[in-house]
Amino acid sequence: MTSADIRQRFLNFFKERDHKVLPSSSLIPFGDPTTLFTIAGMVQFKPYFLGQAKPPYPRTATCQKVFRSVDIDLVGHDGHHLTFFEMLGNFSFGDYFKEKAIPYAWEFLTKELKLETARLWAGIHNDDDESFEIWKKTGVPPERIRRFGDEYNFWAAGPTGPCGPDSEIHYDWGEEYGCGRPDCGPNCEHCDRFLEVWNLVFITWNRDESGVRTPLPKKGIDTGMSLERLTSVVNQRRSLFDTDAFQPLIQHFAEEAGKPYGSDPETDVSYRVLADHARGTTMLLADGVVPANDGRGYVLRRVIRRAMVHARRLGPAVHLSSGVPIVARLLGPVYPEVKTQADRIAETVRSEEERFGVALRQGMERLQPLLERGTLHPEEVFYLHDTLGFPIELTAELAKERGIEVDLEAVAALMQSQRDRSRTATSNFSAPLAGRASRFVGYDHLEADTSVTDVFPVAGEAERGARRANRRHRLAELEWVESPRR
Ligand code: ALA
Repeated sequence: MTSADIRQRFLNFFKERDHKVLPSSSLIPFGDPTTLFTIAGMVQFKPYFLGQAKPPYPRTATCQKVFRSVDIDLVGHDGHHLTFFEMLGNFSFGDYFKEKAIPYAWEFLTKELKLETARLWAGIHNDDDESFEIWKKTGVPPERIRRFGDEYNFWAAGPTGPCGPDSEIHYDWGEEYGCGRPDCGPNCEHCDRFLEVWNLVFITWNRDESGVRTPLPKKGIDTGMSLERLTSVVNQRRSLFDTDAFQPLIQHFAEEAGKPYGSDPETDVSYRVLADHARGTTMLLADGVVPANDGRGYVLRRVIRRAMVHARRLGPAVHLSSGVPIVARLLGPVYPEVKTQADRIAETVRSEEERFGVALRQGMERLQPLLERGTLHPEEVFYLHDTLGFPIELTAELAKERGIEVDLEAVAALMQSQRDRSRTATSNFSAPLAGRASRFVGYDHLEADTSVTDVFPVAGEAERGARRANRRHRLAELEWVESPRR
């Protein structure tokens, strides 16, 4: 079954059950300062859950574009971490609750998609006896219903906003993938026999800044299931990258590199990184994110740069930008904004590739011998960043691959002292002007008559300080905004 089939079946299933099928919203959340990106299907519906706006439909279903940067370092190293993915979800705004959400999910997976019932387990919140009973009634034997604390079965879109206990459906790949411990089950920390497939959130409270939860006037349902994961389960592929959502990209990069996917574990990591990042980059650019030194634009830049490191490993013929038309072909039929802007997107990625190409080459030349030496001093990491423009998080990731620890706190301290130095240096630099009336008129005028009242030499350190101050934007690289869990 293709991912396109599954997407359509999901939306039809809920349409037939009185849900209004709505389009995905942008990856840039609208009017929501609590999250940098759309990290779940419910983001566009928050005001309905909170009772701040009247929902035009009591039940909806979507396939939502989602971007999560929180686990970016892991992407490529296994078969299930992604930055961009499509989230299938059904929602109820004060309409049905658990009693329907659970049987709907079960029916869709077991009747519509015909997943083997014996492979499905349910995780519920410790306190949620109601869900336990509903799962039992729906047909899941008690031994396949496990209870967990907030860590696994409580969901919130961010520090504040709608939240509630949840119930997850896990797929059992089979004992042969397990750790064999007697208590092995969903959320096992020792093996990946179980894969979390669908999350059903029972929206109950509004949480405020201090963590206080106030019950919402109407409870709601917010569910989320990664289309990529579901496709992998339906087609019995353990790795998401072995599904039709990624294979054309992987094959493309493998052709550029001239080495087949599956022939070398190290290059496979790079193929997976490129396939994921080509999708993430293209979809972010299609929604209007532009590469920048802070905020969303910096996350995008980071994704592009990480992909470039891997492209470089695969050889000079491999380029992230060449993946853009393939993403447009794969996702354009569902998200037309990708198709119409494919050329502009590829061009922007190419220009980023050019911009960062030199820093990447110089940085890697310096870094390589240090990595081979087996240690990395904070001063070296700082130097790479400050002088060569080589991002700290890239250095840290490359070091981690080799089992080398980077003392990020010490690097942060160096950054801070540099910040302090530039501040002093900048104020020294402008000191001779103090006391003389000097007014900046550049916002209103392109030309102005003025007189030079003094000429003074610029001290070396002051000059350097001023230069550093101008480059302060780079410091944003440490001020990394993370999306919440999952
Ligand atoms: N909003 C829930 C999640 O993202 C469904 O897991």
